[in-house]
Amino acid sequence: MRIDTADSWQQYLESWSRCMRDTYWFKERCFFDYSREEETEALREEFKKGDNIFLIASDDCGDTLGTLGIRIKGERGVIRRWEPAVPLVLRDSGVGESLLEEGVRFAREQGVRRLTATLRYPHDSEKPWCGGLYNGLCFREKKPGLQLILRLNGERYEPPLNLETLPCDDFSDMGITSFVIRCFATTPEDIAVHGDDKNVSDLVSAERVIRFQRGGGLGYSPSDLRRVALVDGEPAGFIRNFIPDDPYRPRFGLIGQLGVFPEYRRRGIGISLVMDSLNTLKKKSCEYAYVGTPQSNHAAINLYEKIGFRPIFKIIFCEKNC
Ligand SMILES: CC(C)(COP(=O)(O)OP(=O)(O)OC[C@H]1O[C@@H](n2cnc3c(N)ncnc32)[C@H](O)[C@@H]1OP(=O)(O)O)[C@@H](O)C(=O)NCCC(=O)NCCS
Repeated sequence: MRIDTADSWQQYLESWSRCMRDTYWFKERCFFDYSREEETEALREEFKKGDNIFLIASDDCGDTLGTLGIRIKGERGVIRRWEPAVPLVLRDSGVGESLLEEGVRFAREQGVRRLTATLRYPHDSEKPWCGGLYNGLCFREKKPGLQLILRLNGERYEPPLNLETLPCDDFSDMGITSFVIRCFATTPEDIAVHGDDKNVSDLVSAERVIRFQRGGGLGYSPSDLRRVALVDGEPAGFIRNFIPDDPYRPRFGLIGQLGVFPEYRRRGIGISLVMDSLNTLKKKSCEYAYVGTPQSNHAAINLYEKIGFRPIFKIIFCEKNC
């Protein structure tokens, strides 16, 4: 077996398509999941950028055995979804392991210090095969997340509270960031659930996320989708929703962040913020609402399931220092 970098887009596309043929979402369209069209388009864009790594493993006759793509973003390398791509019959042959080892070596040579991979798969399925490869190469797995979805029907949601709210934009980015830290990283229970997610537990990272989102990074988000809840005129929690520009899925609203200050919990504020948002998303022609949270976040999962959300995907972030 030899492993080479791809010579051309056409060569890589053909090899990758052959190796992905047993992957369920590549074979047929699955509701809300990745799709062949979406990933081919992403691959085309990534191939245009010179720094990215595209490896092809082949046998002595030149037949393709597997492929691996890694996006390079400065000192970070991101393994493409569900890769290394290896046909089912070759998965015990060591091709995937060799590709991954070679990918790590290439990435290191290009100055990559940290390699990451994301596994997102149906919540009731086994972890994808490539997850075992990452484990074998000592990638660390962060706590798994759960993604839930709700079909927005014709009826109005009736929140238990008639909440007074203000737009998030009435507060500074630092003000909203301090709300995030207060909600996600103050009590020992919240730190146990969210403590390893810097985006909600570290001031600098959290503010960067807020700025990115306010700049449209997660999608369209007018002020009626980003609200701060008030109790007796004082902030008590917040919600931030987005409508991603996604040509591959029905129009949906993403609940980006929801938090209620610890001292205001279990009074119906969280569920009211979500229900008010669902009514707004419906007015904006969204067919679905979508949300992700750590699998250990029972409070949030109960809240969403109480409204009617159902689990759809599990998500695991893996990383390795090079
Ligand atoms: C999750 C969170 C937003 C809930 O806010 P809240 O205002 O306390 O929730 P509500 O009072 O509206 O509760 C609605 C329902 O959610 C569920 N729920 C809320 N907190 C719960 C808890 N601690 N344990 C179990 N179920 C809980 C219950 O089903 C509850 O209904 P009930 O009170 O009639 O039993 C809040 O705990 C929080 O800010 N947590 C930290 C940040 C976070 O995890 N955000 C969600 C990320 S997606």
